[in-house]
Order: sequence, then structure tokens, then C-alpha cells
Amino acid sequence: MTELRVVDVAEDQLDDVFEVRTRSFGPGGDKEEWKESARTFIADGRYLGVQDGDTVVAAARIWPFEQWWSGRRVGNGGVAGVVVAPEYRGRGVGSLLMRAVLQRCVDKGCPLTSLYPATTVLYRHLGYEFAGSKHEYTFQAADLRTLGGGGTAVRKAGPGDADLFIELASKVNEQRRTNGPLIWPRREVESWLKDDNNFAYVAEDGFVVYRWSDGNLAVEELVAGSEETTRALWATVGSGSSIAKTVSACVPPFDPIHFLAEHEATRQAHQTRWMLRLVDAPAALAARGFANSAVLEADLRIDDPDVPANTGDWHLSVHDGSAELTPSEPVDGAVRLGPRGLAALYAGTPFATLRGTGLASGGVPELDAALDAAFGGQPAYMLDDF
Ligand SMILES: CC(C)(COP(=O)(O)OP(=O)(O)OC[C@H]1O[C@@H](n2cnc3c(N)ncnc32)[C@H](O)[C@@H]1OP(=O)(O)O)[C@@H](O)C(=O)NCCC(=O)NCCS
Repeated sequence: MTELRVVDVAEDQLDDVFEVRTRSFGPGGDKEEWKESARTFIADGRYLGVQDGDTVVAAARIWPFEQWWSGRRVGNGGVAGVVVAPEYRGRGVGSLLMRAVLQRCVDKGCPLTSLYPATTVLYRHLGYEFAGSKHEYTFQAADLRTLGGGGTAVRKAGPGDADLFIELASKVNEQRRTNGPLIWPRREVESWLKDDNNFAYVAEDGFVVYRWSDGNLAVEELVAGSEETTRALWATVGSGSSIAKTVSACVPPFDPIHFLAEHEATRQAHQTRWMLRLVDAPAALAARGFANSAVLEADLRIDDPDVPANTGDWHLSVHDGSAELTPSEPVDGAVRLGPRGLAALYAGTPFATLRGTGLASGGVPELDAALDAAFGGQPAYMLDDF
């Protein structure tokens, strides 16, 4: 092993990266399609690798997402495809790579970064913490068929509707002040709608995309701004109930469909947790929304060994639906947080959980309730893997 170097993955290294991916995640996927997608990350400086001599032995890419936080968009670097060749594992290569990924997120000006961990240890060492989940439920197709919709007009949609879909999703996420759902780059939305295996329908204030999955149906995404549209779109999917017995869907636990479908979704929802990290604490807090009623004044001491710009004494002020994190003098009794505690707090984790796990300390008990009131609310969720 010569000296390991972090590099930007080059196009002529994609065959090597694909091979490490296959050894890491197993076979599958069309190589040419994967390469086409990988090139968009390379073009944007979002594909990093670790090289031993001339050989790429590890790689990871960063999606240019935005994420909804209490109805506002916050830039988020979605880390995916983290792989280390088996013969290089267990000696710090993954950590070297992830440290470079984090620095790239800093350089790109992403206030947040997130990922779905296959193992938490590597990412916790770098300050990521669980922030929310993706929940997959299975409904009875016959229940959905009878939801009605009161004559709401629903039309077949296609790739030309990408902008409309993005706009409709934005309206609903803003109105509902959601926490966690991702906004994908436009080209991804378009290619999703171009996929012949996806069936898309749109109504005035919502849309659905679904597909066949092992003889049943799977909703990729359903967005609806009103009860009528919720009923009409789910009923469109449920109209397949003579063939498909079930419909699976990623929706949050408090989604309207749980309150409309006659039978409860299968109890064992499949839950996949994702992790979050603040890359630029002042920017991430300024970009996030808060309830207009939330009022908070708190002194914080943040220690973030991997992002020195986050480290320091800060004053956090929340009012009129927005937050401001400003540098301050050290204050006795300030709330003390590391990057994991900060991420979990940002995502609305109850402050008692942070205290109970050592992810936060200091402060005074009365402040805990104010922090919960400001950051809590809707649990954070995502609808997609990446
Ligand atoms: C997960 C993976 C990227 C880790 O790479 P690596 O080079 O072995 O990681 P490091 O040597 O830098 O290890 C960093 C820390 O993570 C821990 N770790 C690494 N792999 C682990 C695993 N599978 N289970 C538990 N802990 C693990 C290490 O013990 C180390 O912690 P420590 O410093 O407290 O001992 C690598 O094993 C891999 O490519 N696996 C297959 C694909 C995969 O799962 N990718 C992750 C997708 S999210």
C-alpha cells in the first residue's frame, strides 16, 4: 500500500469504482446507466475517491438536495454510495473519505448533510446523528379504491409535468410545514417521469407516481393539498384492486391516508432511519423555519472537532418564525452540544433524549421545554432512498 490520497473521481476511473461498488453492495443495476448518472456528479465536483497509487479503492458521492425544514428549503448534501474495497477496510480509509466528503460539503456551501447509514459508527465519529425515518406501509388496495374523490379531475401526467410536480410538492410542504422531505434536482424528477414503469397522475393540487411491484402496486410518491385530491389520487391507485391486492407506500405515520383508509396499514411498517449533520450551523439555523409562536433565547457552547467554524460560544435567538445564531462570549451554564447533539436537536429530538444520551448538557431545565417547543413539532421523515 502506497500513500493513500483523496481525489476527485475521474471519468476513466468509473469502471474501477463500479467494481468496488459491486464488491460492496452486490451485483445489480445497469452499468451504463450508473455511469451516466456518475458523470453528473463528476461534472459538479461531487464524486470523491481514495486512491492507492493509480487505483481507486474507495468512493462516495454527494447529491445536491434541498430539504424541507418547517416549511422552508435548506441545502443538503446527500451522501451516497460510500464504498471501500474489502482489502482496504478496517484501517481508516472510510473515515479518510468521509472527512473529505464533509469538507467538500463545507466548500460547496451546503448548510446540512444527510445519509442513510449501513453502519452508524463511521458516521457518528464524524458528527452525524439519527434525525428521522423513512416509513414504508402496506395498504389494502380495495380500501383505497373506495375512497372516492368527489369527481376531482385527475389526468395522466408525463415528463413535461416535472416543473408542475416540483411546484405542487413545494406548496404542500410549505403549507404543512414538513420536516425532512427532500427536493430532488429537476433532471431526476424528469427522468423519474420518463421511466415507462412509473405511472403518473396529476390533479389541481397534487400528484401520484406509482408502479407495479411483484404483482402488487407501490406508490413512489403521493402529494395532495386537499382531502378531495387525497381521496381521488389514492382511489386511482386502488382502482387496480382486481389485480393488485396491496399497495405499498412511503408516507409519514401521521399522513392523511392512515385516517382515511378503512383498515389499518400493516402494523409492521418498514422503518429506515437517516442521519443528519449541520455543516454550517449559523446558515442551517437561519434557513430553517420555526413556528411563528416559538420564542427562544439560549446560550450554546458547540464543540465540533471536524468543522472548526461551528465550534465556539453562540447565542441562539428564535422569534417570528426564524432563528439566528450569533457568536457570543462564553456563558456559565450554556447548553453544551457536539455535532451529533446539534443535529438531533435541529431535527426535533426531545431534549430529554439528548440529555439522557450525553448528547447535550448544561443549560437549565426551563430551557429544555423552550428548545422542545422551538425545534419539536412534526417528526422528520423522508420519502426516498438515495
Ligand atoms: C462501511 C465501510 C465504508 C467502512 O469503511 P472502512 O474503511 O472499513 O471504515 P474505517 O476503517 O474508517 O472505520 C471507521 C469506524 O467505523 C467502524 N466500522 C467500519 N465498518 C463497520 C461495520 N461494518 N460495522 C461496525 N462498525 C464499523 C470502525 O470500527 C471504525 O470505528 P472505530 O474507529 O471506533 O474502530 C466499508 O466497510 C464498506 O465499504 N462496506 C460495504 C459498503 C457499505 O456498507 N457502505 C456504507 C453505506 S452507508
